[in-house]
Amino acid sequence: MHNDIEKTLITEEEIAAKCEELGQQLTKEYEERFPLAVGVLKGALPFMSDVLRHIHTYLEMDFMDVSSYDGGTRSSGEVKIVKDLDTKVEGRDLLIIEDIIDSGLTLSYLVDLFKYRKANSIKIVTLLDKPLGRTSHIKADMVGFEVPNEFVVGYGLDYQERYRNLPYIGVLKPEIYGGDEA
Ligand code: XMP
Ligand code: MG
Repeated sequence: MHNDIEKTLITEEEIAAKCEELGQQLTKEYEERFPLAVGVLKGALPFMSDVLRHIHTYLEMDFMDVSSYDGGTRSSGEVKIVKDLDTKVEGRDLLIIEDIIDSGLTLSYLVDLFKYRKANSIKIVTLLDKPLGRTSHIKADMVGFEVPNEFVVGYGLDYQERYRNLPYIGVLKPEIYGGDEA
């Protein structure tokens, strides 16, 4: 285990099994269709990469980078597009792939945007759900794991751009946050 991690919440093996399970469900969901999988950068990258390998239909991938955080552990409350999709959304079946839903702000912004762009359907799959953090009415169609209202890192999730490369999800030691809220 990494020195900065206080405890592991979800192991590498648990994540791998969940990706397979979600992939099987998504294969059924999108049978005979050609969905557009939209990964929300940067956090969703490992999850997207693993879950997509278990979806056995045709699909197209694209990426969106939005930010509602300024590097710390608190949302700035504002969503801005850092990188937009290259693909036209109109008439497409969208599968949004997220690392975590906390306040729900990022996803409600994206869902509204894709509705405005006339997507045919929009589904959300998230690896983690933090229901206690929710301030907007957004629900994922598929959730890997529920996590408590703690700041988590690893498997795509960062604290100040670190720890995204950990293969598991964990909680940092309090001293790592320094003066920031934990
Ligand atoms: P909202 O609040 O808009 O948050 O649902 C979505 C984005 O916020 C980030 N986030 C976290 N990142 N550990 C992280 O490393 C966390 O516990 C956490 N909670 C929210 C994340 O980027 C997510 O896409
Ligand atoms: Mg994110």
